[in-house]
Formats: sequence, C-alpha cells, structure tokens
Amino acid sequence: MTGTPASIVVLVSGGGSNLQAILDACARGEIAGRVTAVISNRPEARGLERAHRHGAAAEVVEHGRFESREHFDAALMAAIDAHRPDLVVLAGFMRILTPGFVAHYAGRLLNIHPSLLPAYRGLDTHARALADAVSEHGASVHFVTGELDGGPVILQARIPVQAGDTPAALAARVLEKEHLIYPLAVRWFCAGRLRLADHRVIFDGRPLAAPLRLEDPAVQAELADPVVSRHAGPGL
Ligand code: GAR
Repeated sequence: MTGTPASIVVLVSGGGSNLQAILDACARGEIAGRVTAVISNRPEARGLERAHRHGAAAEVVEHGRFESREHFDAALMAAIDAHRPDLVVLAGFMRILTPGFVAHYAGRLLNIHPSLLPAYRGLDTHARALADAVSEHGASVHFVTGELDGGPVILQARIPVQAGDTPAALAARVLEKEHLIYPLAVRWFCAGRLRLADHRVIFDGRPLAAPLRLEDPAVQAELADPVVSRHAGPGL
C-alpha cells in the first residue's frame, strides 16, 4: 500500500468517537489513507455527522429494511465496495456479520472490542468485568474472522479497575484508550506494516507471538512520534 492513500471505509452504529479519532489522525497526516465513506445501519448515528464534517461520504443501510441478515449484508457490501476500500473498519458497528461478508473482506477488516480479548466477547463487557471483580480491563483491536470477537488480536490497551467503578465509568476510561490504539493500528495497516496470514497477525514482517500492548515502550514511542513511525522499518 504505497503511493496513493488507502481508501478506508468505516462502519458505525452510534456515537462514532472511534471514527472521530481515526478522522483526526488522518487529518494530522498520521495515516497514509483517507476515510472515503462512513456507513451506518442507523440513520440517527452521530458518526454520520462526523463524516459530513470531514468531507467523507455518509451513507445509511438500514438493517430493518431487509428481510434477512444475508440481504442486509449484500446491500452493505455493495455500498462499501463502491468506495473500493483497502481497509474496512468496524467502529462500534453493532451488527453480527455473515460468513460471506467476513470472507469477502478477509485480511482487510478490523474491529475494536471493549475488553481484553479473549476475555468478554460479546456485549456488556464492562458490567461483566466488574461482576467478576477483575483487576484489569481494556480494549483490543483485532482482525475480523468468522468467529465473533475471535479474530487474531493486534493491539491491546489495559487499565486498572478502580474501587467503586461503575460500568459507565469503566467504559469511559476504556474509550480513552480505544482512541489511541485504533488510529495506531489503522496507521500500521495503511503503511503496509500489518497483515493477516494463516490466522496470525504479521507485523513488520514477523508473526506476533502475543498482541502488542499500548504500554510497551516501543508502542509508546510510535505514538509519540507518528511521522517517524510511518517510515519505520521492521523492528518494533
Ligand atoms: C466502543 O467502546 C467499541 O469498543 C464498542 O462500541 C463502542 C463504540 O463507541 N464496540 C463493540 O462493543 C463492538 N462489539 P464509539 O461509537 O464512540 O466509537
């Protein structure tokens, strides 16, 4: 993915704060790509306004108008493919995707999930983490595969759970970290540093033995100096 900027299509269902973090990183020149379209299954999604402000196409494919998941996904794929995406980013997109959809975008479909995967796949992750009295919680960026929230994890951010935390308080602190790790993973993908092969994450030419962590000094260094990192070679 060198030369022309990557075309990024982002799917949202709600507020779109992760979308905003990616739009901001693109605007700062940190991502060798641009968000060409934002597509939502909900017409009221705030993410659509964010797309407008950024000059990206904002489109709605309402799931309720389709007789089956397969029909919805086919319409969604047609809307996405019109923008010839190099990367499709799920940013709070709250629909389960069909195997055909996932296969069509294999290796170029990313998701962010509000837990330290493989813990707490699915919904209500913050409440479930609190109910288990875990000491650490966080978020994960992963490639999407056929298994729900089960694709290979690229990058995670961890936060300590504090006494008296509520699901909302925990969600807010996790979201702050999401806004750091998602643009970073998108940056890596668009720079050609990240790919999926044989169900493994290949980063800078090597399979990851474990997910990268936001807390790693090398990852922190990339965050602190995004311009240098765009030209970095193998060796994180
Ligand atoms: C984020 O916390 C994201 O991790 C989560 O939805 C929120 C969307 O926030 N995604 C999922 O739960 C997917 N299973 P945003 O719309 O402000 O980016």
